[in-house]
Amino acid sequence: MEYDPKVPTYQTSDPTSFAHKSARERWPAIITGAIDDVHRTVSRISDADKDALAEGKAITSSLSTLKYELQHNRVLSPITDDGAPDVKLYNDELQARGPPTWHAVEWLYAECYLYRRIGTLFSTAKTKFWKGYDPFYRQKMKTFKSSRPAVIELCARYRDIITQIRSSTSGAPVANDVTDEKEIEQAEMLLFVEMAEICLWGNATDLSLLTSLSYEDIQKLQGSGARKESEKNILVNDLDRAFEVLTRAQKAKAESRRVDIVLDNAGFELFVDLLLAGYLVATGLATEVVLHPKDIPWFVSDVVPKDFSALLSAMADPKAFYETISDADDDPSASEKPPPLSDEEAANVQFLFDDLSHLHSEGKLVLRPNRFWTHAGSFWRMPSVAPDLVDDLKESSLVIFKGDLNYRKLAGDAAWPASTPFAEAIGPLGPSSGLRVLALRTCKADVVVGLPEGKDEEIRATDGGGGDSGARKWAWSGKWAVVQFSDGKS
Ligand code: F6P
Ligand code: MG
Repeated sequence: MEYDPKVPTYQTSDPTSFAHKSARERWPAIITGAIDDVHRTVSRISDADKDALAEGKAITSSLSTLKYELQHNRVLSPITDDGAPDVKLYNDELQARGPPTWHAVEWLYAECYLYRRIGTLFSTAKTKFWKGYDPFYRQKMKTFKSSRPAVIELCARYRDIITQIRSSTSGAPVANDVTDEKEIEQAEMLLFVEMAEICLWGNATDLSLLTSLSYEDIQKLQGSGARKESEKNILVNDLDRAFEVLTRAQKAKAESRRVDIVLDNAGFELFVDLLLAGYLVATGLATEVVLHPKDIPWFVSDVVPKDFSALLSAMADPKAFYETISDADDDPSASEKPPPLSDEEAANVQFLFDDLSHLHSEGKLVLRPNRFWTHAGSFWRMPSVAPDLVDDLKESSLVIFKGDLNYRKLAGDAAWPASTPFAEAIGPLGPSSGLRVLALRTCKADVVVGLPEGKDEEIRATDGGGGDSGARKWAWSGKWAVVQFSDGKS
């Protein structure tokens, strides 16, 4: 709170904010999903395992209590101490805030608190069975499986691009008879934009919005046709500036050219993040990529380290993954055996897997969790609360922040005028911070900055944009996106 921007933040009491709908509709649905998942797991525990059985039932009941408290607008209670240092931070802030009730609390704090509280049920578990259990894992894997058409399409594209780069004498994605430097750089730039936009739109498919999107909707969002169609929905696109800093470092032959990705969602989004990582190293735009996952299950679909290994295992044997009915397939349409992958499709997926596992084993693709990512507050607090993390990120040529929640935290989830410059809204991570920040975000919440004057009003006036209701409804659905850059090193 002390370090946050001095601009009012979004509150669950405000009927014009998506916070209001989130607290009353989305969160109860998300808790119900977790209850169903735990219940399903409990039903598979053998009667002989009495402790795990009893504990599973107790966890279900605690989740139901949490849902009751939320729906009946009770006071947020202190987080149970599970030994992690952030408990004190959460609880001190809770006291300083009142403590508040669910329907009249800062949105960002309350939503983080919700997942931290769910996490505690598993971090304080007494049985090995439930310790560290992820109630969203099943859902994450299921959605990844349903992304099969887009995964297959993108693996084929990745293989084409990388094969061309490796066979080209310039190391660029052009034929060997192209020697004009400008033409080569233009081709590199176009490809960088394509890969980064694939990575951007991968964020449109997160599970916390699944309460309103069907799997069919999600599949439609993932195809290449949809991506082209969506380009006009990128309201600000600073990818050229990000490309420029990466090529500058490459031309200067800087020995370490690290790119960091502060991850968002598992499954398809993580898959496209890894495509971008593989591409950056293959072209030499980066020499290594550091990935920042969460430590605990977070906002339903966010990446925890286990999701990374599960994704790699799925890609290691794509036929086994895509051709079998797994525990995650609980919808009736999945009861039939899925169609087989062709040998070529499987080989394309394995090509990407080989690339990634090679990079991982060479230390060029690194996973680096940090507890700070699951703190309640904005990233304005990073220099004061996590100075080591800032120092680490300063080592990077470019830090890519994926997704909506990271964007909300960058801008303090505050009600800035939409034309506020991005570099100003990210405060201490902006000018002179020593960090180069690139946000790739599809808009799923009210906060938005860096828009040209009048753009917000223009979209509000469109169908479903919110009109003069006072609500920025257009920014809630993931249809619009922003790609914004701030150079804190210059
Ligand atoms: O707006 C819905 C919402 O759940 C927000 O609460 C949250 O910021 C976001 O979506 C999660 O999206 P992402 O996975 O892109 O961070
Ligand atoms: Mg997320």
